[in-house]
Amino acid sequence: MTLFPCTTRRHAFAQFLVCASGCCCGRTDKGKPAVPVSRLKTEWRARRLNPRVQLTIAECLGPCDLVNVVAVFSDDDPIWLGGLVEEQSFVELVLWATASRDASQLLPLPPTLQPHRFQRFTAPPPSPELL
Ligand code: FES
Repeated sequence: MTLFPCTTRRHAFAQFLVCASGCCCGRTDKGKPAVPVSRLKTEWRARRLNPRVQLTIAECLGPCDLVNVVAVFSDDDPIWLGGLVEEQSFVELVLWATASRDASQLLPLPPTLQPHRFQRFTAPPPSPELL
Protein backbone atom coordinates (compact mmCIF):
# COMPACT_ATOMS: atom_id res chain seq x y z
CA MET A 1 0.00 0.00 0.00
CA THR A 2 1.26 3.42 -0.93
CA LEU A 3 2.03 5.96 1.77
CA PHE A 4 -0.33 8.47 0.10
CA PRO A 5 -3.40 6.55 -1.07
CA CYS A 6 -5.48 9.70 -1.40
CA THR A 7 -4.84 12.03 -4.37
CA THR A 8 -6.08 15.41 -5.56
CA ARG A 9 -6.63 16.73 -9.06
CA ARG A 10 -5.53 20.18 -7.88
CA HIS A 11 -1.81 20.22 -8.44
CA ALA A 12 -0.09 22.95 -6.49
CA PHE A 13 3.57 23.00 -5.59
CA ALA A 14 3.28 25.55 -2.81
CA GLN A 15 0.71 27.06 -0.52
CA PHE A 16 1.03 30.40 1.25
CA LEU A 17 -1.03 30.64 4.42
CA VAL A 18 -1.33 34.22 5.59
CA CYS A 19 -2.76 34.78 9.03
CA ALA A 20 -5.05 37.77 8.89
CA SER A 21 -7.33 37.38 11.83
CA GLY A 22 -7.26 36.09 15.33
CA CYS A 23 -5.95 37.91 18.35
CA CYS A 24 -3.08 39.74 16.70
CA CYS A 25 -2.28 39.42 12.99
CA GLY A 26 -3.82 42.23 11.01
CA ARG A 27 -5.74 43.52 14.04
CA THR A 28 -5.37 47.23 13.40
CA ASP A 29 -8.26 47.76 15.82
CA LYS A 30 -5.85 46.56 18.54
CA GLY A 31 -2.99 48.72 17.30
CA LYS A 32 -1.33 45.84 15.43
CA PRO A 33 0.11 46.23 11.92
CA ALA A 34 -2.19 45.61 8.98
CA VAL A 35 -2.16 42.63 6.67
CA PRO A 36 -2.95 43.85 3.13
CA VAL A 37 -5.45 41.07 2.43
CA SER A 38 -7.26 42.81 -0.44
CA ARG A 39 -4.01 43.68 -2.17
CA LEU A 40 -2.69 40.13 -1.76
CA LYS A 41 -5.86 38.66 -3.24
CA THR A 42 -5.83 41.18 -6.10
CA GLU A 43 -2.19 40.51 -6.93
CA TRP A 44 -2.64 36.73 -6.69
CA ARG A 45 -5.61 36.93 -9.05
CA ALA A 46 -3.99 39.37 -11.50
CA ARG A 47 -0.84 37.27 -11.70
CA ARG A 48 -2.85 34.03 -11.96
CA LEU A 49 -0.80 32.41 -9.22
CA ASN A 50 -3.55 30.02 -8.18
CA PRO A 51 -3.75 27.08 -8.43
CA ARG A 52 -0.01 26.40 -8.79
CA VAL A 53 0.82 28.62 -5.82
CA GLN A 54 -2.18 28.62 -3.54
CA LEU A 55 -3.00 31.63 -1.38
CA THR A 56 -5.00 30.95 1.75
CA ILE A 57 -6.04 33.75 4.06
CA ALA A 58 -6.13 32.01 7.40
CA GLU A 59 -7.13 32.55 10.96
CA CYS A 60 -4.70 32.09 13.82
CA LEU A 61 -1.72 29.86 12.98
CA GLY A 62 -0.46 29.79 16.57
CA PRO A 63 2.65 31.96 17.08
CA CYS A 64 0.62 35.14 17.64
CA ASP A 65 3.42 37.05 19.37
CA LEU A 66 5.17 37.31 15.98
CA VAL A 67 2.33 39.36 14.53
CA ASN A 68 1.59 38.87 10.87
CA VAL A 69 2.57 35.28 10.45
CA VAL A 70 2.91 33.46 7.14
CA ALA A 71 3.50 29.74 6.63
CA VAL A 72 4.67 28.45 3.25
CA PHE A 73 4.22 24.77 2.49
CA SER A 74 5.68 22.77 -0.35
CA ASP A 75 7.19 19.31 -0.73
CA ASP A 76 10.15 20.63 1.28
CA ASP A 77 10.28 21.74 4.92
CA PRO A 78 7.71 24.41 5.82
CA ILE A 79 8.91 27.99 5.94
CA TRP A 80 7.49 30.11 8.75
CA LEU A 81 7.72 33.89 8.70
CA GLY A 82 6.69 36.36 11.36
CA GLY A 83 6.79 40.06 12.09
CA LEU A 84 5.79 41.13 8.59
CA VAL A 85 4.94 44.65 9.64
CA GLU A 86 6.04 46.47 6.48
CA GLU A 87 3.86 46.41 3.37
CA GLN A 88 7.05 45.85 1.37
CA SER A 89 7.37 42.41 2.98
CA PHE A 90 4.05 41.42 1.45
CA VAL A 91 5.22 42.78 -1.91
CA GLU A 92 8.25 40.50 -1.55
CA LEU A 93 5.93 37.57 -0.84
CA VAL A 94 4.01 38.23 -4.07
CA LEU A 95 7.24 38.54 -6.07
CA TRP A 96 8.55 35.31 -4.55
CA ALA A 97 5.31 33.49 -5.36
CA THR A 98 5.37 34.85 -8.92
CA ALA A 99 8.97 33.86 -9.53
CA SER A 100 8.25 30.41 -8.08
CA ARG A 101 5.20 29.97 -10.30
CA ASP A 102 7.34 30.93 -13.31
CA ALA A 103 10.01 28.43 -12.25
CA SER A 104 7.41 25.69 -11.54
CA GLN A 105 8.91 25.14 -8.12
CA LEU A 106 9.14 26.94 -4.82
CA LEU A 107 12.30 28.99 -5.09
CA PRO A 108 14.54 29.63 -2.06
CA LEU A 109 13.35 32.23 0.40
CA PRO A 110 14.42 35.69 -0.83
CA PRO A 111 17.15 37.28 1.31
CA THR A 112 14.85 40.21 2.09
CA LEU A 113 12.46 37.86 3.90
CA GLN A 114 15.16 35.79 5.64
CA PRO A 115 15.18 37.99 8.79
CA HIS A 116 11.52 37.05 9.33
CA ARG A 117 12.09 33.30 9.32
CA PHE A 118 11.60 31.38 12.55
CA GLN A 119 11.47 27.78 13.73
CA ARG A 120 7.87 26.97 14.48
CA PHE A 121 8.19 23.71 16.36
CA THR A 122 10.64 23.45 19.24
CA ALA A 123 10.74 21.68 22.55
CA PRO A 124 9.62 23.90 25.43
CA PRO A 125 12.30 25.10 27.85
CA PRO A 126 12.62 22.90 30.94
CA SER A 127 10.24 23.75 33.72
CA PRO A 128 11.97 25.41 36.74
CA GLU A 129 10.53 22.66 38.96
CA LEU A 130 12.48 20.08 36.97
CA LEU A 131 15.83 21.81 37.36
S1 FES B 1 -3.39 35.64 15.28
FE1 FES B 1 -1.91 35.22 13.70
S2 FES B 1 -0.77 33.56 14.50
FE2 FES B 1 -2.32 33.89 15.98
